Amino acid sequence: MTDQDFSAHVVDDHERGLFRVHRTSFTDPAVLERERREIFDRCWLYAAHESELPKPGDYITRKVGGRPLILARDQQGTIRAFLNTCTHRGNQLLREKSGNTKVLSCFYHAWGFDLKGKLVGLPGDDAYTAHFERDKMGLVPVPRLQSYRGMLFVSYDAGIVDLVTYFGPAREIIDHMLDFGGDDVEIVPGAQSYSMRANWKLLVENSIDAYHAASTHARYLREYLPDIGMDNSKWVGLKSFDGWRGVALGNGHAMLEGPALPTPLDGSAPEELARIRADLDVKFGKERAHRIADYHRNLFIYPNLILISFWRTLRTFYPVSPDYMEVEAWGLLPRSESDQLRHKRIENFLSFLGPAGLATPDDVSALEGCQRGFESLREAPWSDISRGMGRAQPLNTDEQQMRAFWRRWHAQLQGQRGDTDCNDHPERVLAAAATGVTA
Ligand code: FES
Ligand SMILES: [Fe+2]
Repeated sequence: MTDQDFSAHVVDDHERGLFRVHRTSFTDPAVLERERREIFDRCWLYAAHESELPKPGDYITRKVGGRPLILARDQQGTIRAFLNTCTHRGNQLLREKSGNTKVLSCFYHAWGFDLKGKLVGLPGDDAYTAHFERDKMGLVPVPRLQSYRGMLFVSYDAGIVDLVTYFGPAREIIDHMLDFGGDDVEIVPGAQSYSMRANWKLLVENSIDAYHAASTHARYLREYLPDIGMDNSKWVGLKSFDGWRGVALGNGHAMLEGPALPTPLDGSAPEELARIRADLDVKFGKERAHRIADYHRNLFIYPNLILISFWRTLRTFYPVSPDYMEVEAWGLLPRSESDQLRHKRIENFLSFLGPAGLATPDDVSALEGCQRGFESLREAPWSDISRGMGRAQPLNTDEQQMRAFWRRWHAQLQGQRGDTDCNDHPERVLAAAATGVTA
């Protein structure tokens, strides 16, 4: 624990409608250490999807919140999450990304564990005294593991609230994103794994930043979309998309949301897409089906999960150092759709968001550019995130959704427990203006 004072890292001025983040937030190793302890060790973190472990004996390995983990399904079908470290002398037990096994065995001295984590094999067993407690030498489970509709989250805080409480109002949005196209969704085999030389919070901002789209992704919007025969008129220009808005969903969760925009999918399987849409009306009723299907959303689940409905993707990331993060992303698609539509969805996902797609490299370049810019932080110490702060109805090109993240981040960085008010309060800006406080 550090006794450093983090209270000045964010300036949140509700009277003047100004919001600034000190750039040491992106560069200081003490901030990262504090984030690990006060944020990543105290939140629910997305780990995997149940569909990645379809059969008894299936396991995957993955780093979550800085720890290597094993997620495994036992013979009775229960999924557990263990720290991927041998209780003998620490060797990382499994090294493959996935597989199927009855016993998790360590190649260093060949201790073996069953899928419930119990120590079941110990070469030279008779060398240990009567005080060596085999039943206490099982694999160490993560303190908390919970599934929400197939999405598996872990927490290193045994006392954390349950997942549904944690999501708060964001839960309904997760439901919308999972209901779209039916409940029976699966992770498409394979993942996008990449890294960038940028602070992880830059990717939080970027993932819910509509302001940058027209400029950063001009090539995709102005050249690629017309090239594939799409009308791009709704996409281009710096104005906010009609009806789109940025929303704070409580405790750092946030989203961009608005009426569905044209997608490269639209012309490819019109009959199937129309049937899927009609089925939603029957299943959920017209009003709810409208909320589910006729909107696009980028949903941010604090602290490091993004769901993007346009590409049906989940993305998570974690800092290796203040200026370097690792990213993983997956496609989450309904099993019931035709191969043709699935192929089109994957193509759509890869052409924009793939690490070699037409947009992700633009974002990586912008975020790495920010990080390089922070080398001048002594002379240029602040980043500005004030956009739309005095507006009664923030637009998607405003930055309220980012401020929601930063408010929760700043509260947690200072060790605050309980809920955080992450909302703008435009009435305070207006009141201050009326009384001349800001003059
Ligand atoms: S470290 Fe695993 S058996 Fe020794
Ligand atoms: Fe982008």
